[in-house]
Amino acid sequence: MPSCLLALETSCDETAASVVTPEGEVLSSEVASQIEIHREFGGVVPEVASRNHILHMRLLAEQALAKANVTLKDVDAFAATSGPGLVSSLLIGSTLAKSLALAEGKPFLAINHLEGHLLSPFMSRGKIEPHIALIVSGGHTMLLQVRGVGDYELLGRTRDDAAGEAFDKVGKMLGLPYPGGPEIDQRARSGNRKAFDFPRSMMEQGSYEFSFSGLKTSVLYLLPKVDVTHEPTLNDICASFQEAVIEVLVEKAIRAAKQYSQPLIAVSGGVSCNGRLRERFAERCKEARLELLLAEPRFTTDNAAMIGFAAAQRWRAGFTSPLETDVNPNLSLVG
Ligand code: KG4
Ligand code: ZN
Repeated sequence: MPSCLLALETSCDETAASVVTPEGEVLSSEVASQIEIHREFGGVVPEVASRNHILHMRLLAEQALAKANVTLKDVDAFAATSGPGLVSSLLIGSTLAKSLALAEGKPFLAINHLEGHLLSPFMSRGKIEPHIALIVSGGHTMLLQVRGVGDYELLGRTRDDAAGEAFDKVGKMLGLPYPGGPEIDQRARSGNRKAFDFPRSMMEQGSYEFSFSGLKTSVLYLLPKVDVTHEPTLNDICASFQEAVIEVLVEKAIRAAKQYSQPLIAVSGGVSCNGRLRERFAERCKEARLELLLAEPRFTTDNAAMIGFAAAQRWRAGFTSPLETDVNPNLSLVG
């Protein structure tokens, strides 16, 4: 009989279910995006998100089991994201996973969403090695030293906006559809990265903190002076803004790898899907003779396979969570 874990993810606006083996091999990964629904509001509306999770969660879990060719009886443990995220969204996946664990008499694992992102680059490898990790998502920008599963040291985080949030807010200023990240990525491909000289903040030596609000303000101040309805100008702004964000991310990750003598950098989270970010990290790591590990693009934005992979690591280490474990919108990854 196959042995597997069922993982559910509902921390924000993606409903997702995945079946993984205890070794962390992904047998299925189903994601129902709500982007189209939230686009008309220009961002995620929490109540709309949770109501849609209710509509899709059970069906998606059934699809994940069917695609993995297993039944509920084959599942050895049920995992769900317990935070950070929107509390009303977190409750849907977490409550279903706990209910299934209770009904089937199997263990439950509460997983930190950020740990899901953090470990996702290792899904192709299975084993987690010590490294410098950069998480760049819509809600978080963090640089960490990872010594092993659960052994994380925070080196720095953003003081204001997360990298993805900066992409989304600048996208909104430029009149692009939500979310701005993928739109800016696309437009930047035909823009000039040097057209506008945007600030690179917090670049002093030894600082691993990030700040993107000054950059966002610079874009805002530029707007009355240019014509954003002129496509080439719009594309130039996208390319120049994106380059400013990426340069800071790459530079700090490389400095950290050198300072902490870590030969490996792993980058995760929705922004790590960005084409230019992947290209720049590859170039700079090669120059610096550092190894680079990126999550597969489909596992960069929110998904349940990364939650299942993190759960598998913890499951193998003998870790389970009580059914009383609450969801926590501010759940921390460190300390
Ligand atoms: O990891 P994620 O799906 O959700 C959070 O946990 O926050 O990340 C979503 C973020 C959004 O801000 C989105 O604009 C950004 O990732 N993103 C991108 C790209 N694809 C998604 N940012 C830049 N370039 C992309 N290609
Ligand atoms: Zn995420």
